[in-house]
Amino acid sequence: MTLADLFPDEDYGFRMRFERGRVAEFFGRSARHDDLIAQRRGWLRNGAQTYCALLTEGIPLLQETIELARSEQTLPPNSRREDFHNSDPLQNCLSLGIAWEPDFLLLGREKGGDIRLLGGCVCFPSFWSLEEKMGRPIGAIHGIVPGLNQAIGDQIHAFLSGLRPGSAWLRANWGLTRSPELNQHPLRKLAALYSGVSLEEVWLRIERQALVALPRTKGVLFGIRLEVHPLEWVKQDPLIARRLCRALRTMPGAVAQYKAIASARERLLELLAG
Ligand code: HEM
Repeated sequence: MTLADLFPDEDYGFRMRFERGRVAEFFGRSARHDDLIAQRRGWLRNGAQTYCALLTEGIPLLQETIELARSEQTLPPNSRREDFHNSDPLQNCLSLGIAWEPDFLLLGREKGGDIRLLGGCVCFPSFWSLEEKMGRPIGAIHGIVPGLNQAIGDQIHAFLSGLRPGSAWLRANWGLTRSPELNQHPLRKLAALYSGVSLEEVWLRIERQALVALPRTKGVLFGIRLEVHPLEWVKQDPLIARRLCRALRTMPGAVAQYKAIASARERLLELLAG
């Protein structure tokens, strides 16, 4: 998904747009591997409870995900089988959390139709906490995003319920922040954008996401990869800068508030135009 796809020539809105991708490509090794894994190890060393969680119902989904990771050859060549077959399932979740570059979440599709978060490892969250979301259905997880459930909640539910195995379905979210840090957990209290912010202080944060069906356990694997670019770099492409301005201008106030850009909105428009 290119920047032009991420910023279509349309007013801001919540959209259901997916591209078909490959599991091995999304979860496999990139040029940034060593840096990303070092950062993940660092956060998990002292904050395992903050960044990694697994409910009992999530254990079979984690096992299936580890099998998928192995069959798609996305595990490091030197990784040991026993790292992923510990008697403590949370250790296996942690092992996958430092083997894979992307964050991952495991969702259960239950008989009654509920889709609930059962586990995962999220070292690079965008202002949300895994602990707070654990065990909750997808509608409740998204409840804090103003207007999202009303606009596309039913479509999200239908999409996840009908997900077929074999491919990774790709989509993306974006945000603007005052820090290039990948880990923007609320506990870190990173500085927020404000009305006097300068161009060098603003970063475009893109969350590339992959949805993959887990056929045996009927679960869903949700992967998240972060990409961070200076706003200065975005501004160099007039088409993207213009479309980003359109999205900022037309974004409902409550959404701008949720995305922590409300107080800086006018300033951001000025910076992109100037
Ligand atoms: C399948 C289609 C999905 C769509 C279209 C979608 C869309 C969105 C959007 C638009 C946001 C707001 C982000 C922003 O604008 O800054 C969001 C937030 C979020 N989504 Fe999704 N999402 C999907 C699936 C999922 C899944 C499977 C999970 C797994 C748990 C998930 C977890 C979250 C979380 C944790 C947040 C942040 C909520 C917060 O700030 O507390 N989403 N999603």
